Amino acid sequence: MAVRTILHYPDARLREPGKKVANLSPELRQLVDDMAETMYAAPGCGLAATQVGAPWQIFVVDCAADGEPSDLRVFVNPEILTTEGAVTSEEGCLSFPTAREDVERAEKVRVRAQDQDGRWFELEAEGLLAIAIQHEYDHLQGVLMIDHLGPLKKRFLHRKMLRRGEAYAPGPG
Ligand code: NI
Repeated sequence: MAVRTILHYPDARLREPGKKVANLSPELRQLVDDMAETMYAAPGCGLAATQVGAPWQIFVVDCAADGEPSDLRVFVNPEILTTEGAVTSEEGCLSFPTAREDVERAEKVRVRAQDQDGRWFELEAEGLLAIAIQHEYDHLQGVLMIDHLGPLKKRFLHRKMLRRGEAYAPGPG
């Protein structure tokens, strides 16, 4: 297992949609393990393969509260079947370090996906898990948190991320 580098906005690779997974090769199983380790190390409650520069339709989430046992869930080739209601909550994203933004999402989702062993499952989720699933599902389409913001907030966050990128860029020599 290894912690992989998380890409930060505006890295163009974050806009590349994930490809369908035909079979979970040893390399892709390794990717899933690494993604979980990377998410826990960050720490974060969700991570999409596109965020580590691996354009596959895979994401992991763990929405367990602090002090609760871990609840790692792996979604391969996920499909959101139905959505219900609407809820606005503050979200973060490992590709937008330190940013917290209000985003509107469906309150409940029904999702179909394969697990890390390729078995199909269906899940009805609400609360934090439903929000995390929609956020990570977005990543697999190349859609980012910033796309859900109004024009002013969008511009503000864009500039903030550019400034942050400059501050962290390697200096001359
Ligand atoms: Ni994210």
